[in-house]
Amino acid sequence: MPLTFEGVSYSYTNPEHQKKRRARRAKRGAAEEPPSVQAHGKPVWGTDPNAIWALRDISFQLRDGEFLGIAGHTGSGKSTLVQHLNGLVHPTRGRVLFAGRDVADKRVAQECRGQVGMVFQYPEHQLFAATVYDDVAFGPRNLGIAGDELEQRVRRALERVGLAFDDVRDKSPFELSGGQQRRVAFAGVLAMEPRVLVLDEPMAGLDPVGRAEFLDLVAGLHAGGLTVVMVSHSMDDLARLADRILVLNEGELFALGTPEEVFARGEELRAIGLDVPAAQRLAHELRTCGFSLPRALYDDESLADDLAAQLTGAAQAKGNAHA
Ligand SMILES: Nc1ncnc2c1ncn2[C@@H]1O[C@H](COP(=O)(O)OP(=O)(O)OP(=O)(O)O)[C@@H](O)[C@H]1O
Ligand SMILES: [Mg+2]
Repeated sequence: MPLTFEGVSYSYTNPEHQKKRRARRAKRGAAEEPPSVQAHGKPVWGTDPNAIWALRDISFQLRDGEFLGIAGHTGSGKSTLVQHLNGLVHPTRGRVLFAGRDVADKRVAQECRGQVGMVFQYPEHQLFAATVYDDVAFGPRNLGIAGDELEQRVRRALERVGLAFDDVRDKSPFELSGGQQRRVAFAGVLAMEPRVLVLDEPMAGLDPVGRAEFLDLVAGLHAGGLTVVMVSHSMDDLARLADRILVLNEGELFALGTPEEVFARGEELRAIGLDVPAAQRLAHELRTCGFSLPRALYDDESLADDLAAQLTGAAQAKGNAHA
């Protein structure tokens, strides 16, 4: 059930936002957007001075079972893009296809929403019910699920996010810690049993331990078969988890490929305000100092291993030469 973007562009038309966007472009030294050009009475893509083109001609396919990371500077269009994935937002131009059918069709959008679960930034702000049980049960209840099946779903969803059903079911979500609240909100999405999970900055505002736990949780859900799309500012997290990374710049698709492919373009990424993971950057520096580091993608551990092997090898060679 792949999701396909075909030439998707999306425009907001709020003049206030447009002013800020212009200012940001100017600050970054980017060229002014060209004046409006009309074709058949409609502004040509990217040329209406009253429109903010948050996305510009984006085409790609989300593959079944993959983990797709989305990166890009602030305001590059990441949230706008992911909101297209379940028909929450419709393209101004182009199409989003769900299993080959246009999500602009209401029935397709409804079906799509049933299968694509969306976790927004600070999802705990959306908690509302008197008990954890009712909060998690809200979505499946709306699908007409009741009785034992409903209870099973809520139990399963809470256990998937690492909360003990019997401990939390009757608590108010608001007496839980921030991290636990986030888990409850997450469980509410999982209780809909989606096949695709879309996460917009799910780790924002968590402490390092909370972040690590949450990342493990997401990695576990992906390993269990869910297709995952995750927006993140952390290139380290994306390097570790993503099968492919999609990079946006000013609403355009800047890069799409495996982490190795994307991070090979380190200089270009830096030019658009992004960075490669720390270990990757260090490996690059060390190579310029003469170290031979053959892997295309390094994390802290693999870099430490390769460095240790080389330094031990060099020390032994030196020892042999002295002997
Ligand atoms: N409701 C809105 N009305 C008008 N313009 C908007 C609206 N929401 C977003 N925009 C503009 O659309 C562009 C893309 O915004 P979007 O929120 O998708 O970016 P983002 O990559 O998610 O940013 P961040 O990393 O800050 O979350 C920005 O220029 C933003 O100012
Ligand atoms: Mg965003």
